[in-house]
Amino acid sequence: MTQPERLPQVLINAELPPVVRSLLEGRVTLVPWGMGDAATVGIYCYGHTLIDGPLMDRLPGLKVISNHGVGVDHIDLAAASARGIPVGNTPAVLDGAVADMAFALMLAAARRLVEGDRYARHPEVTEFAPAERHGRDFYGSTLGIVGLGNIGYQIARRARGFDMRILYHNRRPRQSAASEVGAIWVPLDQLLAESDFVVLIVPLSPETRNLIGRRELALMKPTATLVNVARGGVVDTDALTQVLQAKQIYAAALDVTEPEPLPRDHPLLQLDNVTLTPHLGSATVQTRRRMAELSVENLLAGLGGRPLTCRIA
Ligand code: DGY
Repeated sequence: MTQPERLPQVLINAELPPVVRSLLEGRVTLVPWGMGDAATVGIYCYGHTLIDGPLMDRLPGLKVISNHGVGVDHIDLAAASARGIPVGNTPAVLDGAVADMAFALMLAAARRLVEGDRYARHPEVTEFAPAERHGRDFYGSTLGIVGLGNIGYQIARRARGFDMRILYHNRRPRQSAASEVGAIWVPLDQLLAESDFVVLIVPLSPETRNLIGRRELALMKPTATLVNVARGGVVDTDALTQVLQAKQIYAAALDVTEPEPLPRDHPLLQLDNVTLTPHLGSATVQTRRRMAELSVENLLAGLGGRPLTCRIA
């Protein structure tokens, strides 16, 4: 009698959505978080659970870590490399969706969309109020992109359609991509001082943690808007809260926060000059499908001892 095939055991950190589950169906056995052991050969990470060296050591058979998402600040890459465990992520497939989100946030903040929506629905509103809720022009303004990587490049491409002057800051200028979209490299302080909209799209790392703090916020124009589609930890939340409370900048629009989500009594939640979304950058049906496919492809490649399609470490 033939034995049933034993499927590789993969540790998961969260309830997986149907699109991921269907791709994994019949190919792996899912092991709930905390239940991994010597038979566990893969980790599939959905969300931002910490994956560190001690966890890897508890799973001596581990062959691959696959992250559903491009940002891997929650995974200790050095620990994985030291143990010879490849880590996969999902770059490129989400660039357009996150760039679109940056525009949704910039436009919402500039044109006071959320406030307008609340007003338009309010039961006591009976008159057109032309003198209220004036925003700021978006088209033709100066956009500062902090991090001209693949997503930053997509943001710059879109900005051209809005006739924007485009500044960017990277540690090293990215000449050819920047010249394709007409983006000019400037030091970070100059970008902050000259931009009407500052968009943060850098990975979170020890170098970028609190990159935008009290000093940097003080450099921004009183009419400027800060947009974060990167990671909350890139901004000093306390400093930003104080600057917005004092109306030292025009607005902030945040898809990500530190902590995430913010505690329900956090003062940022009380402010009208903040637009918040709950980390929706890549959250479209089509993009999430592509992320699911790529992350599952990475996982199966690692389990089979083959090179990952997208390997970050
Ligand atoms: C990413 O891909 O890093 C998104 O922020 C989702 O985690």
